[in-house]
Amino acid sequence: MQTTIKQLAHQFFSEIQAIRHHIHAHPELSFQEFETAQFISNKLNEFGIEHKTGVAGTGIVALIKGKNPDHNCIALRADMDALPILEANDCSYASKNKGVMHACGHDVHSACLLGTAKILHATKDNWEGTIKLLFQPGEEKHPGGASLMIADKALENPKPNAIYALHVYPHLPVGYVGFKSGQYMASADEIYITIKGKGGHAALPHQTTDPISIAAQVLVALQQIVSRKANPLIPSVLSFGKIEGGFATNVIPEEVKILGTFRTMDETWRAEAHRLIKEITEGICQSYGAKADIEIPIGYPSLYNDPTLTEKASAWAADFLGKEQVITLDKRMAGEDFSFYTQHMPGCFFRIGTNTNNEKFTAPVHNDRFDIDERALEIGMSMMAWIAINALNTK
Ligand code: NI
Repeated sequence: MQTTIKQLAHQFFSEIQAIRHHIHAHPELSFQEFETAQFISNKLNEFGIEHKTGVAGTGIVALIKGKNPDHNCIALRADMDALPILEANDCSYASKNKGVMHACGHDVHSACLLGTAKILHATKDNWEGTIKLLFQPGEEKHPGGASLMIADKALENPKPNAIYALHVYPHLPVGYVGFKSGQYMASADEIYITIKGKGGHAALPHQTTDPISIAAQVLVALQQIVSRKANPLIPSVLSFGKIEGGFATNVIPEEVKILGTFRTMDETWRAEAHRLIKEITEGICQSYGAKADIEIPIGYPSLYNDPTLTEKASAWAADFLGKEQVITLDKRMAGEDFSFYTQHMPGCFFRIGTNTNNEKFTAPVHNDRFDIDERALEIGMSMMAWIAINALNTK
């Protein structure tokens, strides 16, 4: 089976490469993946794979049935959206949509999943069960396409018992793959604080409630949450990226806005930290006679890779690529909406290396020069097929 998969991946490579070039050249922003979804749907039709479009807007759910389709069901996921970045690469397949770029490799993920689909479809008489393919919108934008796919019943009928996804990783050379069992990526919640005081002449501070000096105290005090309240064994980050208020040296403004992000890897602590952010901010503002408006819209949960699933997938990868090609990843404080799926079923989110010998294609994701060594397409599509078939056999 392994040899067959490798041969098919090799045979389909140029077709999947052309698909990746097309998607890369025609990027679309989150929740606007209309042409991308149409293109993917056309390819699935061409391959003869049944699927449903219009799930959660532009999402697609496809099914590939092997022998005895009721035996087991697992899901594979790819995201389709691009970022508002002006591409700096001048390759033949560079973005034709100025200011929008596939800088997080979601073009690669979609192309790989189409390759995997073609391999699975070609081998469906040789495996048992059903494989569900999810092409989802809006990974880069809240509330996250994954949450909308789930709300639109993408995980029902049939309900998968496990879910897998791959992601490009420019810090790893092509040929390598990385796994991390247990907590892997952080929850990511945005924080919007508005402190409202009373403005006035800077020479008459006693007649004002100065939101600037109060904001300064709030910023310092909130860091106590990470340094004094967080369990040191749970990674936590509280960063503020924007502070806005005031007009001139001699005017005390009415209001100051502070924008930030809180990230952690424990859902109980996450809720507790949100409460503390609100309580401390309100307490300080109140004690100085100012008002605080605090909004923390709930972002992506932390991403937990099921240990049993991940250890198995990592072993299958080692069997497929060679033991020395499989590495253990470090935790990351970035967010990823695949975590929504893992709240419903065990999941495994892994990385495929995309640089060339740590020399070429090393620009990080979300960078205007990001690109990949395309040998990663062949590895991605074949390994995902191999993992899927193995996963079906381990109910
Ligand atoms: Ni991404």
